[in-house]
Amino acid sequence: MALQFSLATAAPEAADTACVVVGVYEQGVLTSAAARVDSASGGAIKRQVESGDISGKGGSTTVLYAPAGIAAKRVLVVGLGTQKGFDAARYQKVAIEAARALGRLPLTEAVSYLAEVEVPGHDAAWRVRTAALAADHAAYRYTATFKPREKAAQPELASVAFAAGAEVQGGLDQAIAIAEGVRFARELANLPPNICNPAYIAAQAQAFADAHDKVSCRVLDHVEMEQLGFGSLLAVGRGSVNKPKLVALEYKGGADGVAPYAFVGKGITFDTGGISLKPGPGMEEMKFDMGGAAGVLGAFVAAVKMGLEHNLVCVVPAAENMPDGDSYRPGDVLTSLSGLTIEVLNTDAEGRLILCDALTWTAQTFKPQAIVDAATLTGACVIALGKHASGLFSKYDDLAGELLAAGERTLDRAWRMPLWDDYQVQLDSGFADVANIGGKSAGAITAACFLARFAEGQRWAHLDIAGTAWDEGRKGLATGRPVALLAQWLIDRH
Ligand code: BES
Ligand code: MN
Ligand code: ZN
Repeated sequence: MALQFSLATAAPEAADTACVVVGVYEQGVLTSAAARVDSASGGAIKRQVESGDISGKGGSTTVLYAPAGIAAKRVLVVGLGTQKGFDAARYQKVAIEAARALGRLPLTEAVSYLAEVEVPGHDAAWRVRTAALAADHAAYRYTATFKPREKAAQPELASVAFAAGAEVQGGLDQAIAIAEGVRFARELANLPPNICNPAYIAAQAQAFADAHDKVSCRVLDHVEMEQLGFGSLLAVGRGSVNKPKLVALEYKGGADGVAPYAFVGKGITFDTGGISLKPGPGMEEMKFDMGGAAGVLGAFVAAVKMGLEHNLVCVVPAAENMPDGDSYRPGDVLTSLSGLTIEVLNTDAEGRLILCDALTWTAQTFKPQAIVDAATLTGACVIALGKHASGLFSKYDDLAGELLAAGERTLDRAWRMPLWDDYQVQLDSGFADVANIGGKSAGAITAACFLARFAEGQRWAHLDIAGTAWDEGRKGLATGRPVALLAQWLIDRH
């Protein structure tokens, strides 16, 4: 369940709640909320600072139970790190750790004073929004495929109030909408590939459209795509009994006749590599290969929930890449929807093959004012940027700047990579207009260059989220990125 958020006005020593959350910097520097709790409790915080129990180290947490003179049952003291150099990224980290600590306690509610802490370059609305999104992120639990529990082992955090003035209500409302989009994306991406297949994604999109005014959904099945000439997308899905779908959500939040913004998201519900089969270990992570689809759908959900006054479309090519007697093969030449022919040199470079047809169809069908795609496209992008930044590719400096700024503001950051035509020769083919791989070097760039050929004439940007869409490890969960970045980009377009 999503956390409930509200604003609070009570002083920290007087808030009648299960827990108040206050910040302390290193070297015993107390925030004003911490100082108030400290003096009302006869020095409960300073005593623990002096004993060394509270270090103030960034993200550290200490619980004081039933301190004298404080109305709340507990005080959660959160370390903010050094006061010098305290910045947005640290603020977000601290907010996440505070929420994690709350989640470990047997309580259902808390009042946080973290949003009172000054963050250079950001206002109170940003601080509340960021803290709320961090809290909801930390509170998310994947439960869909566990045996249902009778009841929770201990009470779970259900609501958080932030001490802040009423002028930040807008920021809190944005947080609630974006958190819903993030949850939508995470849940969809975390589901196993035997549940989350192309038809399942289409059904989720349809259900969302049915439940919301101004939203409609169109799903093309493989028969319709065959008639229309989606030769590239269909080839990828041919080896699977779970047939490909093209899902298009449309939101009419803006004026009639205004060209929409368009999102396109890679929806490979499982990527075995196909005939160019991937190695076994870690292959289960390729259920997250629909992370781009989840991300753009989540951003769409957030936009609708915010009631943004934009026209917006969200297009998801969905397919499963499987080896089979009927699979496409290395050496095949495909005719894409655009008419360009493609020589398949590796069936594991499938994302670009479904995206190219989706880009063509999106441009033709909606004539959008800008297209942004998100895709877990290349392992090479993970090598280049790791798990912290998504790769951003665009020939449009203004569009790239807008997306970078949105990523910075939400800390859902992207880093721009080149998309120069110098790299295009790597995609030359002796048998078709373009090859689907560009050789050993610059793999993330040549993948983007491949897409660029199908986005000709469009104001287009590409986000490679291969490193950012999920957390690594056996228990790694979908992160919900780049929902916040895309939602912020739309907010900023007003
Ligand atoms: N879905 C993968 C990319 C990927 C790999 C994302 C690892 C996240 C983690 C994509 O379809 C793929 O297999 N790409 C190949 C391309 C290569 C064959 C040119 C890759 O990156 O190895
Ligand atoms: Mn692949
Ligand atoms: Zn893939």
